[in-house]
Amino acid sequence: MPLARSLSITSLSGLEEWDEEFDLEDAVLFEIAWEVANKVGGIYTVIQTKARLTAEEWGENYFLVGPYVESNVRTQVELIEPTNPALKRAIDKMNSSGCKVYFGRWLIEGSPYVVLIDVAFTAWNLDKWKKELWDNFSIGVPWFDREANDAVLFGFLTAWLLGEYAAQCEEPPHILAHFHEWLAGLGLALCRQRQLPVATIFTTHATLLGRYLCAGSVDFYNNLADFNVDKEAGDRQIYHRYCLERTAARCAHVFTTVSQITAVEAEHLLKRKPDIITPNGLNVKKFSAMHEFQNLHAQSKNRIQEFIRGHFYGHLDFNLDKCLFLFIAGRYEFSNKGADIFLEALARLNYLLRVNHSDVTVVAFFIMPARTNNFNVETLKGQAVRKQLWDTAQTVKERFGKKLYESLLVGQLPDVSKMLSKDDFTMMKRAIFATQRQCQPPICTHNMLEDSNDPILTCIRRIGLFNSSADRVKVIFHPEFLSSTSPLLPMDYEEFVRGCHLGVFPSYYEPWGYTPAECTVMGIPSISTNLSGFGCFMEEHIADPSAYGIYILDRRYRGVDESCNQLTSYLFQFCQQSRRARIIQRNRTERLSDLLDWRYLGRYYISARHMALAKAFPDTYFYQPHDSDTAQGFRYPRPASVPPSPSLSRHSSPRQSEAEEDDDRYDEDAEAEKDRLNIRQPLTLPSKKGPALPYTLPAAGTSS
Ligand code: UDP
Ligand code: G6P
Ligand code: GLC
Repeated sequence: MPLARSLSITSLSGLEEWDEEFDLEDAVLFEIAWEVANKVGGIYTVIQTKARLTAEEWGENYFLVGPYVESNVRTQVELIEPTNPALKRAIDKMNSSGCKVYFGRWLIEGSPYVVLIDVAFTAWNLDKWKKELWDNFSIGVPWFDREANDAVLFGFLTAWLLGEYAAQCEEPPHILAHFHEWLAGLGLALCRQRQLPVATIFTTHATLLGRYLCAGSVDFYNNLADFNVDKEAGDRQIYHRYCLERTAARCAHVFTTVSQITAVEAEHLLKRKPDIITPNGLNVKKFSAMHEFQNLHAQSKNRIQEFIRGHFYGHLDFNLDKCLFLFIAGRYEFSNKGADIFLEALARLNYLLRVNHSDVTVVAFFIMPARTNNFNVETLKGQAVRKQLWDTAQTVKERFGKKLYESLLVGQLPDVSKMLSKDDFTMMKRAIFATQRQCQPPICTHNMLEDSNDPILTCIRRIGLFNSSADRVKVIFHPEFLSSTSPLLPMDYEEFVRGCHLGVFPSYYEPWGYTPAECTVMGIPSISTNLSGFGCFMEEHIADPSAYGIYILDRRYRGVDESCNQLTSYLFQFCQQSRRARIIQRNRTERLSDLLDWRYLGRYYISARHMALAKAFPDTYFYQPHDSDTAQGFRYPRPASVPPSPSLSRHSSPRQSEAEEDDDRYDEDAEAEKDRLNIRQPLTLPSKKGPALPYTLPAAGTSS
């Protein structure tokens, strides 16, 4: 029998500092998800951002497996010959048996290998495989559920791939397969049922039932322990999907989820307590100049301001310099993502700003993809009008400059009254006339297919936020993810976030919530909730989150109206901050980045993999759980530079003068240094002994 190998981790950042005995050389990792090279939502972000770290650890033995989608492959994947001989034989064998399996490099950081399977090409097997699914697992999938049909095809094909790979290896292989979410889960169940030599991990990023129940009018968190899960799934016509998900969770050697709150949910709804919590990280960019991210904010904000100039043409009666950009973004789940209470809070904020005669204008963006047929004419026209005004100004400027130059050449000061010709005036008048507009600036940038019953538009109609001149809060609904190639707002999501002032994510159902995490690493403050994985994680690790621009709304212990009032008061306080206070706050927010870096959070994935290998191959590997003197319980203290939060400081500090308030020059470095001295210490705390494993879960029922 080979000597058992220890699998403990020896440092926080150092993948290079493994235990001497540690050796993964002959192990191969497959990571399987529907969102590999296929963007749908946050799972794509998990896989895509984690790839670099995992590729560093597993090198040539790391393969991501996903669906083949031609448009994605064209833009993101370089197809090549398989590099691993056993895998090449396995893929060739499948391709000669009526499948279409591709191999390539995903062109993202870390350039991991990808195996992409064309599920539609093998659809001729669907009935046969569904029968097998019924015979072996008693799960019946109805013909009309396209997504579930894809899950069946993808499941059988991935199990085929893993089985074929194992058969093609010369030595008995140590295969580790990590499956994400229910759509990929069937492959895992099949590996176990066929007794393949595969260590399996299942990570759920949400539970199907949780998502569905929350989207309805159910008091979810107070009734978690009492749901009749089979009946609830049946009532919502997702029983077969639920069975696929539950089977994967129950069959896995190791079951993980992304946050404590979802762990409790999984325990009740999927009937298995996760073995490890694997919080989501990001690749944190470090700038050489400390305030580079502030410059990026200013640059991106200018571009958003340009868009606003076009969108509000003819109604630009507010001061753009005093305009704050707020946004919510993500998959369009109206109430789960909290778009409902955000709109309500905006209506209340509008009232507060008006009665207080505030000179601040808020523009709230809703970036949530819905069914549309392209941009609407009025929105496109806005940008065209803006461009025309710009071009007119440039032409007149050039003519003016030329006359000025000619006059200086002959040693004369120009006669100002002759600098602009009649033609110049005509051209300028025509341009001004073009800015006349009978209607209000549009709310929605696209033609919606379901305009009359769209939840955001319906709510806006009810609360009456119509972008009228008297409104201090304006709303723009962009029902499509952002793209740098858009003719309307040509910015990618990251640039857009950088240019905004505050991300607002008041979710009711949010297992993790990447959007506020992304704001944090870009130094943009955000609002999340104590029902989101991210919000709970930050509450656990930061003594005074709001001092760092991490506002956590209480949606757990308060009713909707009360939460909405709390949100309104956060927003109102935010609007009262001076520019200087916003800059200080952004600096603090950005300093939390390390906490969300995969370099730190990747360790939980590493532990999950070790645990699975040890369970599946006990003769070769053993896993030693680590005790609790670890990351758990380490906390960022309040920032040393008191007063703690700009919003709080307003009440305790004397009012600054207008000029002082808008001054963006202050000793940032001294302030940052004070904070850094205070913060660095706890971050180095996670001991050399290993990561916090497993996260302790709150006792059942305590989350409600
Ligand atoms: N996102 C994007 N483009 C946009 C808006 C959002 O790529 O225009 C991404 C965002 O970067 C984030 C993901 O969508 O990574 C949403 O993930 P989250 O975990 O917040 O929510 P999910 O949609 O998975 O529920
Ligand atoms: C960054 C830039 C400053 C700019 C400020 C605007 O900090 O470095 O030059 O004045 O952003 O901040 P605001 O919150 O008003 O967009
Ligand atoms: C799911 C969850 C989201 C999470 C993402 C990545 O889509 O809804 O909260 O951030 O997965 O784990």
